[in-house]
Amino acid sequence: MASNESYESTIDEYINTDNTYTVFKNANVFSNEFVPDRLLFRDDESQFVLSNLTKPFHRIKAQNMFIYGPPGTGKTAMLIKTSSALNRKAKEKGQKIRYNYINVKYQTLPQVMRDIVKQYKPFEKPRGLGFDDYKTIIESRLKDNYTGFIFDDLDKMISKYPYVHPMDILINTFSRLAELDIKAFICVLVNDATIEERLKPSTRSAYAPQYLNFRAYNSRELCAILKDRCIEGLKKDTYNEQTINDFGAFLYKSHRDLRTGFNVILETGHQAGMANKTKITHSDLKKSLKKVEQNTLAELITKFDGTILTFLYAIASIQRKYKEAESKAAYDFYCKEITKLNIDPCADTHLLRSIRPQLEVMGLIIHSIKGRGKNKGVIGTLYIKEKELDYIYDICKNELQKRVRKLERTKEPKKHYKQKNF
Ligand SMILES: Nc1ncnc2c1ncn2[C@@H]1O[C@H](COP(=O)(O)OP(=O)(O)OP(=O)(O)O)[C@@H](O)[C@H]1O
Ligand SMILES: [Mg+2]
Repeated sequence: MASNESYESTIDEYINTDNTYTVFKNANVFSNEFVPDRLLFRDDESQFVLSNLTKPFHRIKAQNMFIYGPPGTGKTAMLIKTSSALNRKAKEKGQKIRYNYINVKYQTLPQVMRDIVKQYKPFEKPRGLGFDDYKTIIESRLKDNYTGFIFDDLDKMISKYPYVHPMDILINTFSRLAELDIKAFICVLVNDATIEERLKPSTRSAYAPQYLNFRAYNSRELCAILKDRCIEGLKKDTYNEQTINDFGAFLYKSHRDLRTGFNVILETGHQAGMANKTKITHSDLKKSLKKVEQNTLAELITKFDGTILTFLYAIASIQRKYKEAESKAAYDFYCKEITKLNIDPCADTHLLRSIRPQLEVMGLIIHSIKGRGKNKGVIGTLYIKEKELDYIYDICKNELQKRVRKLERTKEPKKHYKQKNF
């Protein structure tokens, strides 16, 4: 009789197969949330991070850090893995050390402060407070503790004001906690290393971080990481090594990152399962790539509220006619279209100063300023990348039509645009 373990794995196979063949051993390892136990080719970076972040265990405050590098190079994976492991160790040893990981992507400053406060339970009313209220609460919770704040994707924070970027306020506030005798330190993760040069001198001087670059992987490394993950996630004979090597080389050449690679393998595996196929080929992977990239965009856009969606639609519509959209024309177009959703238009300043930067941060539009000629002032123009234009236009148009139809069915009373209080 077979051992219990192998009997159980046979049962698992029967359960998971469900009449359809699956190429996956563990599909989870290809998901965006998965954090691997081991990061390949990152030993030096790991040592650098650990040597600093473990200082509090020797009663020394860690230095602030500035970690930068292109997408998909393992920054988030390393800091999530390290901070949770160190939190576990601190608990085991009963030491007052804590590492707070906060992803600030597409968040405004008050939202970030609220998220931090929420990590310190119990707290009943974390909504509706101002920046200073949140700051006071956070300060009161940090006494005696060594606390590390890991701000991930700081360059993707939403900036509402054109003059001062919220990341400047965030870095300044947390770097200056030391002046209040609080043993806090920050670790910032970004793609764009140049943002550090844009910090105000007073912020830079208080921040004074250690720098760490997560360099891009070369083609060989990219293939090795993909293969390593496939061994964990796919059944043995469902792919051959050469297919993954070719796919890795293709990703590298076309400047795509690991995250895209994993998403594509996940999608290809699902497709193979539906078609009862037992092997993944290079052409299957390429077919899924297009689908994955389009799905990602559609998922993002269809979640927008009416104002952002209509503004993006306005830019796409004008650009399809005139190659680019002037800000003023986009606003006029938006005002006309938004009424179809039964929403009052917002002010042009709100649309251009608050909504426009949000679309920029998401990489959906590019904003440029052009001179109109000598002494005639400047004009702002907005445009969408050519290869995404038609696709974005179609998503916006379909989504808007869907919402208008829903409105007609339900006949909701008119909404007044309520400006959010950031
Ligand atoms: N060296 C590595 N070994 C194994 N897996 C890796 C490695 N580097 C990255 N990955 C994997 O690639 C994916 C993307 O990594 P991660 O999210 O950490 O990138 P990032 O540097 O934070 O990117 P971004 O700047 O876009 O946020 C994750 O699934 C991660 O596990
Ligand atoms: Mg990241």
